[in-house]
Amino acid sequence: MAVEVSRQEGVAVVTVSRPEALNALNEETNRGLLRVATELAADEGVRAVVLTGAGDKAFVAGADIAAMARLTPEEARQFSLLGSRALAAIEQSPQPWVAAVNGFALGGGCELALACDVRFAADHAKFGQPEITLGITPGFAGTQRLPRAVGAGWAKYLVLSGGVIRADEALRIGLVQAVFPKDELMDKAMKLARELASRSPLIMQYCKQAVSRALDVDLETGTQIERDLFALCFASEDQREGMAAFLEKRVPQFKGR
Ligand code: CAA
Repeated sequence: MAVEVSRQEGVAVVTVSRPEALNALNEETNRGLLRVATELAADEGVRAVVLTGAGDKAFVAGADIAAMARLTPEEARQFSLLGSRALAAIEQSPQPWVAAVNGFALGGGCELALACDVRFAADHAKFGQPEITLGITPGFAGTQRLPRAVGAGWAKYLVLSGGVIRADEALRIGLVQAVFPKDELMDKAMKLARELASRSPLIMQYCKQAVSRALDVDLETGTQIERDLFALCFASEDQREGMAAFLEKRVPQFKGR
């Protein structure tokens, strides 16, 4: 299977596994990611997801160049559509997704990491959108998510130059949220995922939705969206439990209701 899933308590670990091609995304992996994201979204036992790549050399080294080399324009459109749908399923998933970037995250790999909610990187990871060096634009929404994540200047620098940056620079520009020694990356990603899994899954969805929408709407509309979600929290058991637990000085038991 090109996309593998394992579970540890409330956390699912999703691994893109095509080590012979540095986990490059072909039709099979894109279908696998779409299926897995859709299945996990419906699984109430899963409260957070960690996404990584097999081996320790690459997270994902891009869309599969051999598979793309002979595509017709219409086939290229379908390939882009499938990849974009897989990434959108991750972005719109009710669970938080943490990317554990354990090596090259280039082209479609950088785009895949960008679809996740939080990005942690190993110190040997490398990031970039080298598509222009192959005579193509990014195809899995990199031109759209990258400027939202790091601003137009850095997005244009990366997309126009095709240059590759190291993990410390990715941290400096805000492309990743933390960098760890290679051997600690998975532990740190799992620790964050377990923390996220301990929160209310219902309120997690509201928080994720509110921040995601902020990038697409004007401030007034976004503030209204936040206010509606804030009000909705007060229709939940988890709001009552969270506040009662604080006042009673105990750990809350969230049920997602
Ligand atoms: N697609 C297909 N195969 C790939 C691949 C990719 N994106 N990246 C690596 N591979 C394959 C290599 O062809 C090689 O296979 P063989 O052993 O059969 O020759 C194997 O993985 C190992 O790779 P290298 O020998 O090249 O390893 P390296 O350490 O010398 O270099 C690398 C590593 C710098 C990441 C290099 O592999 C590379 O530049 N890869 C391509 C990166 C890239 O351009 N990504 C963007 C793709 S386009 C895209 O993603 C479009 C989109 O948005 C939809």
